[in-house]
Amino acid sequence: MSAFSTGFQSELADLMRWRRDVRHFRTDPIDEAALLRCLDSFNLAPSVGLSEPWRLMRVDSAPARAAAVANFEAANSAALAGYNGDRAALYAGLKLSGMMDAPVHLAVWCDDATPKGAGLGAATMPEMRRYSVVGAITQFWLAARAAGLGVGWVSILDPAQLARDLDAPPAWQLIAYLCVGWPLEDSQTPELETAGWEARAPALPVLRR
Ligand SMILES: Cc1cc2nc3c(=O)[nH]c(=O)nc-3n(C[C@H](O)[C@H](O)[C@H](O)COP(=O)(O)O)c2cc1C
Repeated sequence: MSAFSTGFQSELADLMRWRRDVRHFRTDPIDEAALLRCLDSFNLAPSVGLSEPWRLMRVDSAPARAAAVANFEAANSAALAGYNGDRAALYAGLKLSGMMDAPVHLAVWCDDATPKGAGLGAATMPEMRRYSVVGAITQFWLAARAAGLGVGWVSILDPAQLARDLDAPPAWQLIAYLCVGWPLEDSQTPELETAGWEARAPALPVLRR
């Protein structure tokens, strides 16, 4: 396998350094062709047994979006109630979704019942299909960032309620609700770090056995 140039490798490192979870978006629309180019990254992603179990839903209609926003608000209030004192005050000040502003909303699901791949690699660990979807989302996230777009992953949701509201097939498991749009600003620092919630670890410890 031939290596990419050192210039490309350095830019790839920059891309990963500058990828952020974005919650503050401009409301201007995204060029449809640019979005489709980023979505192509799903078709290139690795998946267990080549099962390609990702399923994408554009959440465009006003009722569907309103249901998703209401779902987030209920789940976020419930999560806030689980904290006390300073943590609760800090949590209450966090912006944990850009759903109100992001022009594109994507619900990403895993089809747990897909026959594609004939079960290869998933017999002992069927959750590998879901991990495959997470890997594909990461590729999309980087492709979007490379195009100057921001992605925000919203997981503070009741997945069963969302599946009902969006009429998802029963075998589909929610993996991510993604907000996509133009970020208000760029940063090398995770927003949760800036807000004082949590800091990125300095170095990855690798154990040896
Ligand atoms: C599986 C997953 C779920 C996440 N869910 C949320 C969420 O519900 N709300 C939110 O604001 N950020 C969410 N995030 C973003 C993380 O908070 C973020 O990735 C982390 O703080 C590191 O920041 P960075 O992505 O900007 O590097 C999620 C990220 C992942 C990978």
